[in-house]
Amino acid sequence: KSSLVSIAHLSKSDLTYLLEMGKEFEKHPNRKILDGRIVATLFFEPSTRTRLSFETAANRLGAKVIGFSDPKVSSSTKGETLKDTIMMVANYSDAIVMRHHLEGAALRASEVSPVPIVNAGDGSHQHPSQTLLDLYSIQQTQGSLENLNIFLVGDLKYGRTVHSLIMAMRHFNPTFHFIAPKSLEMPAEYKYFCQKYGIRFTETEEFNEDIISKADILYMTRVQKERFTDLMEYERVKDTYILQRRMLCKAKDNMKILHPLPRVNEISQDIDDNPHAYYFQQAKNGLYMREAILCHVQGITLNDIKSDKTILD
Ligand code: CP
Repeated sequence: KSSLVSIAHLSKSDLTYLLEMGKEFEKHPNRKILDGRIVATLFFEPSTRTRLSFETAANRLGAKVIGFSDPKVSSSTKGETLKDTIMMVANYSDAIVMRHHLEGAALRASEVSPVPIVNAGDGSHQHPSQTLLDLYSIQQTQGSLENLNIFLVGDLKYGRTVHSLIMAMRHFNPTFHFIAPKSLEMPAEYKYFCQKYGIRFTETEEFNEDIISKADILYMTRVQKERFTDLMEYERVKDTYILQRRMLCKAKDNMKILHPLPRVNEISQDIDDNPHAYYFQQAKNGLYMREAILCHVQGITLNDIKSDKTILD
């Protein structure tokens, strides 16, 4: 049994193995393969998709769920440390899924926890389960993860999903295009990462139909209001990029728009029924990948899943 703290810890074969598991869960999401286990979800920051899809995944696999979605109801408000909280909850559970505003919180938790930790987002740092569902979505729509042109648009400074995605895609020879206002550009450490692993990338502030015409994947992101110390600066940049339907006129037929969600206004609502829009299915794919993650951290293998006799549907 092992934790899932950073996508960087997973090799290419780990990633493809987990994606294979996800496919098994798309075929049969309802099983009792985690019957008798308890999954704890500790969300110190707000979430809709990640928490509810992990909890749905646990329930569909026959596990029970404990936890909180509002840290105000936990003893952290009385000053209990993260270490003590994790050690307590580990007494009650077989795996802990946690989201925290501090970068490195999941790593710290994994160092003290006797049960596996799943990082459901730590500050602006990492969101590995999101990346796995992003990879699944890219593979499902493009037929392969190899040699793609991926455009990352919006808040590339604070957006943890784009940071994790770059790390995972290093195995698949991508070309990245970073589109962000200067103040929200991709942090130097991730550009250095690209250079280190020979990942091609371009940078621009421009966003128009000619740029979109080159994309296989257009990955839109929300400007992360909660990470700004200066709200005037947020107001200045929040509407920099709004994807409008007319901007898709030159898009490749199979280009897909991804977004980790929640959306504010960066994708016009009238795109939702456009064949290029994939973000709601992307979120749905999160259920299959989170079933795979929960099984993986419990030591259940792809072979166990393939030979599983507990399928209910
Ligand atoms: N994509 C994502 O992390 O969404 P939530 O914040 O709703 O969990």
